[in-house]
Amino acid sequence: MSEWQRTVTCNDIRPTHVGQSVTLNGWVLTSRNFGNQTFIDLRDRYGLTQVVFEADDKTLFDAANKLGTEFCISVTGTVRPRVAGKERADIDTGAVELLATKLTVLNTCPPLPFQINEFGSELANEDIRLQHRYLDLRRRSLQKTLILRHRVCKTIRDFLDTRGFLEVETPLLGKSTPEGARDYLVPSRISHGEFYALPQSPQLYKQLLMVSGYDKYFQIAKCLRDEDLRADRQPEFTQLDLEMSFVERDDVLSLMEQLAAEIVKQVHGITVPTPFPRLSYADAMSKYGSDKPDLRFGLEIVDVTDLAGASEFGVFKNALAAGGIVRAINAKGAAEKFSNTQLKPGGELPKVAETFKAKGLAWMKAEGGKLTGTIEKFFSDDLKAKLKERLGVADGDLLLFVADKEAVVCDALGAVRSHLGASLKLYRNWWDEKAEAEKEGKPFAVRPEHFNFAWVVDFPMFAFDDEEKRWVAIHHPFTAPMDADLPTMETSPGTAKAKAYDMVLNGYEVGGGSIRIHRQDVQARVFKMLGMEMEEAKARFGFLLDALNSGAPPHGGIALGLDRWCMIMAGTTNIRDVIAFPKNKQARDLMSGAPAAVEPRQLRDLGIKVG
Ligand code: AMO
Ligand code: AMP
Repeated sequence: MSEWQRTVTCNDIRPTHVGQSVTLNGWVLTSRNFGNQTFIDLRDRYGLTQVVFEADDKTLFDAANKLGTEFCISVTGTVRPRVAGKERADIDTGAVELLATKLTVLNTCPPLPFQINEFGSELANEDIRLQHRYLDLRRRSLQKTLILRHRVCKTIRDFLDTRGFLEVETPLLGKSTPEGARDYLVPSRISHGEFYALPQSPQLYKQLLMVSGYDKYFQIAKCLRDEDLRADRQPEFTQLDLEMSFVERDDVLSLMEQLAAEIVKQVHGITVPTPFPRLSYADAMSKYGSDKPDLRFGLEIVDVTDLAGASEFGVFKNALAAGGIVRAINAKGAAEKFSNTQLKPGGELPKVAETFKAKGLAWMKAEGGKLTGTIEKFFSDDLKAKLKERLGVADGDLLLFVADKEAVVCDALGAVRSHLGASLKLYRNWWDEKAEAEKEGKPFAVRPEHFNFAWVVDFPMFAFDDEEKRWVAIHHPFTAPMDADLPTMETSPGTAKAKAYDMVLNGYEVGGGSIRIHRQDVQARVFKMLGMEMEEAKARFGFLLDALNSGAPPHGGIALGLDRWCMIMAGTTNIRDVIAFPKNKQARDLMSGAPAAVEPRQLRDLGIKVG
């Protein structure tokens, strides 16, 4: 071992080490000079140790005073107790410090492009941090999320290993697997004009592994989808991908509930209740306006089409005449929170509805036993009484209405509901509660209700794409229809249901899967429904169709969005915080500069002309 190499980490020394000589390696976090003493906080992945340099060793002291932030150093010294009253309770080494006797600078660091600090409002601009991600990753909070991510993966692997699952890798260079996004394509050098597609998921390979008899498969798999990015979406993300043979829906759901509970237990030390509640897709859409409802709060959407239709309000009557519906939310006690001016078109809440294509957001308030507002006059006393009863109205309530096609009403009121949930503080994120408690010096513990899990089941099989004028698969084309819908799938595609399920956590879709089609004839019928004639189906998925005809067992599975899981477990709403080297919103890696132009020779080799 070389002299400069550490004997302990920056999180190791304790009062029991007092008097011992140790060597630390790490980075200079801060340096403070007080005349004849210089204090350095030395950081590594494990923690922080205070190092003291004293003026009586002049050479050493001078060297210490030249240390800059983020220099990488080796320090040898003697452990001693801190001066009484200067102990730090917030770090593990807080009772002691190291009196330095030797310093080696392992590497210097130029002035930093941004301060490496922890706190939200003080954080440097994200683009600058992403450009220097290797520095940003030195932040304690990012280290913590990557450690947490490792812990989640380890929990998954241990859990599945003890249940007989095999981790099998599947190719990155393959053929397109449709998951509803655009493919990333890789040109072939050997066969000009031909392309590999990077996998949107390992869907087909895991089904083929079932055909091959591997029975229980999983993979922590990279998936690539060229789609528009959001706070919870990356072009390159990770799934826990899983598949099982000879199972029905409930086998998959029950296994995944146990795994979900185990992850929460390993990360937060609490037990969430299982089984998770199940909600049909139809109920989720009509009550919450979303297929991934946040069930930490109520605020249910209620259908009032019949009452609105009997009113004299032109907007409602016209919407109904055009085949639409009217639904409402009773925002309990919120009448005073939103002024009549704020409720005018373009105001806070109407803007939310308008973003989701609603033509407006009509409202009434309950005050002094009456309903008030500009549209109240269009409702007879009898209708108003019925409205109050249906929506459970009391004084101080705010009623919000959207009239439109069902899909628009769901989206718009779903968004209004989410907005109200946050602005009326109907739920609390555990990390917000924790930050508040810390500010007030109060104790805080994560509770099971901070993690609201549910299953959304009974999805429709198909949706009609108005632009493309054809039926598309709601999940993916390999999802099995419900047995009862199989005979009428072609004649009544709009009502056919699928054996598909999504896992929802606090309003995020954190997993999705299905029981698959395991018979060639059914698969061919579904392809046909999606507008793929046998010829095309054979060209694109011939290998799957052949495999299904080769003794394919009944099978099903799921994929969990690992990044989203880690976000919620780590307490962030930014998916980039749980990925070591993420892409920005334009799908760029600001650090390496990808995507970038390539050498003309490389393009020639690939037979590609650009521009
Ligand atoms: P699905 O497309 O629903 O299913 O994906 C499964 C889960 O992956 C997560 N996810 C994403 N996370 C981050 N960024 C993205 N761009 C992104 N897209 C999806 C979500 C989602 O629930 N092959 C099927 C699974 C199956 O049927 O077994 C599939 O990929 O949390
Ligand atoms: P108008 O008659 O267009 O001035 O609209 C009166 C009120 O109805 C306003 O508060 C609008 O935001 C609202 N409104 C307009 N169109 C709709 C609609 N399709 N659904 C619900 N409210 C609407």
